[in-house]
Amino acid sequence: MTWQLGRTLLGGSRRQAFLDYAWVAPALAAVPKPLRRSLTLRLLAASPHYFGRQWTSHYPGLSRRAVLEGELDRNRVTRAQICDRLLLPYLHPTMSVLDFGCGPGFLAKCVSTHVHDVVAVDISRGVIACARELNDGPNIVYLANRDPDLGLLGDSMFDLVYSFAVFQHLERDQARHWLSELVRTLRPEGVGLCHFAIGPPELSPTLDPSRWLDRYRLRFNFYAMDEVRRLLVEAGASEIELRLTSDIGTIDDDIGAQHVAMFRRSASGRS
Ligand SMILES: C[S@@+](CC[C@H](N)C(=O)[O-])C[C@H]1O[C@@H](n2cnc3c(N)ncnc32)[C@H](O)[C@@H]1O
Repeated sequence: MTWQLGRTLLGGSRRQAFLDYAWVAPALAAVPKPLRRSLTLRLLAASPHYFGRQWTSHYPGLSRRAVLEGELDRNRVTRAQICDRLLLPYLHPTMSVLDFGCGPGFLAKCVSTHVHDVVAVDISRGVIACARELNDGPNIVYLANRDPDLGLLGDSMFDLVYSFAVFQHLERDQARHWLSELVRTLRPEGVGLCHFAIGPPELSPTLDPSRWLDRYRLRFNFYAMDEVRRLLVEAGASEIELRLTSDIGTIDDDIGAQHVAMFRRSASGRS
């Protein structure tokens, strides 16, 4: 009953849109500044989207407040690792960059210190409000993309588009659609980097963790290598390279044992 009420209040009205409510930004603004950060963490912590180890044995005997601070630090550290070890070789101070499914903006904040500007989009208005609270920056624009496409962004706008911990939560047809949107926004000479969880796809719907995550509308889908390549080609990408992240650098997160796809925009457009 408590769970049902909590999910109704925070879960979001659509799949994959945790905390997608217009009231979150004004609610945060109405809270005195010293309490705002704590409220932001508590809102984000209502789902395992971002603070995935909060209910594990990772923080034995610690207070709820200390657990949330620990998860905040873990997000900062792991997203700094993703920036420094996976993305940095592709970053340049003149670049415009797109972060797709930015969540609370930890990665966008790190990347913003190396490039000209970052546009960070997320499907959830509430999560975007939390990102502005925790990870604001002078050259970051946070946007809620609630439309069924990235129509709020023009063609060929970005030198680099990237997405971490997002495609594993999307169904195949959604993944194909959003990849083609990412390719559309990429400049012809630009680079894309998207993280995927590679594994036997037939296991995805039957895993216990999936059912547990599904209570939060957070599906977990494994992809096959060939499937990722095919989805990217269908989306209009070329020069696709799929690598184990651990072969590039250590990331102290699930992503560290998964894959990242590098690609460019195909000269001939979508196949
Ligand atoms: C597990 S979080 C990862 C957040 C961030 N990329 C990171 O690595 O810290 C997945 C995010 O993807 C967002 N998301 C899911 N579907 C989306 C879509 N179609 N468009 C934009 N964001 C989406 C969710 O709202 C959520 O914030």
